[in-house]
Amino acid sequence: MILFKKVEQLQTYIAAQKEKKQKVGFVPTMGALHNGHLSLIQQAKAENDLVVCSIFVNPTQFNDASDLEKYPRTAAKDIQLLTSVSCDVLFMPPVEEVYPKGLDTTLELDFGDLATVMEGKFRPGHFDGMAQVVNRLLNIVLPHNLYMGQKDFQQLTIVRSMLRQLDSEINLVMCPIVREEDGLAMSSRNVRLTPEHRKLALVLSQTLKKAKELIDKKTPEEIQKWAMEELAIADFKPEYFDIIDGITLQAVDDFQGTDFAVACTAVWVGEVRLIDNMVLKS
Ligand code: PAJ
Repeated sequence: MILFKKVEQLQTYIAAQKEKKQKVGFVPTMGALHNGHLSLIQQAKAENDLVVCSIFVNPTQFNDASDLEKYPRTAAKDIQLLTSVSCDVLFMPPVEEVYPKGLDTTLELDFGDLATVMEGKFRPGHFDGMAQVVNRLLNIVLPHNLYMGQKDFQQLTIVRSMLRQLDSEINLVMCPIVREEDGLAMSSRNVRLTPEHRKLALVLSQTLKKAKELIDKKTPEEIQKWAMEELAIADFKPEYFDIIDGITLQAVDDFQGTDFAVACTAVWVGEVRLIDNMVLKS
């Protein structure tokens, strides 16, 4: 694996590979890698000639300064893991390479109601910062294929909207959620859970699974109410459990009215905010 820290050097390398008709797959991450991230690299490896992974903890998408500060940084282990799955290129830029003085990287796009619900409601500004960095990284890497996880369903939907609005030819690939053995969705934030909270955190995936079993018996509103109560155990603070249309991200009133229903949830588990989702109907 080749490690680049400078935009220019990375671009020169990728341009040379593209000259040789190599197909480029790109996996943006914020590091603290786990098997969820590695599954994206593996899928990209299977579908491209050259796989580029980026590790950049993007300050503009953190609406909470302490979340940014506490975000785990494990570069040495990340490099080892990426090597183990034969990632070709790692781009690990310092902030001034991504946001150099004098370069306007702001993105004037309107995501409409996609960005006002769920994470958009609880993390104001998060998606603007996320779209800004993904767009900047895409402009640097210029990949053919972009790999993102269903784990961040709303993020992926917003990136899809961004690519459409920019008339981009980049193909966005959605990769399935990788879970721990007990069902907890893998996340870089899981390492910050206390052992006790870690055990209890499986209630998120369990509630999503039970919600799926209930779709023939209850309305979305009834399931949502039930789920919020299930998740409100000691030390847990559920922010939302929304049943939404997978395309518009707007609340589903009845399951007959949509072909694609997804349940999405965000829960504070002690000091750690976890998100998860499950397709209920597709
Ligand atoms: P990060 O949280 O590091 O996630 C990087 C990618 O890995 C995202 O596409 C995410 O959906 C995917 N991912 C995370 N956990 C996963 C799991 N358990 N199973 C499958 N895929 C999983 O998302 C970000 O970084 C940032 O917002 C980023 C897009 C890099 C922009 O800064």
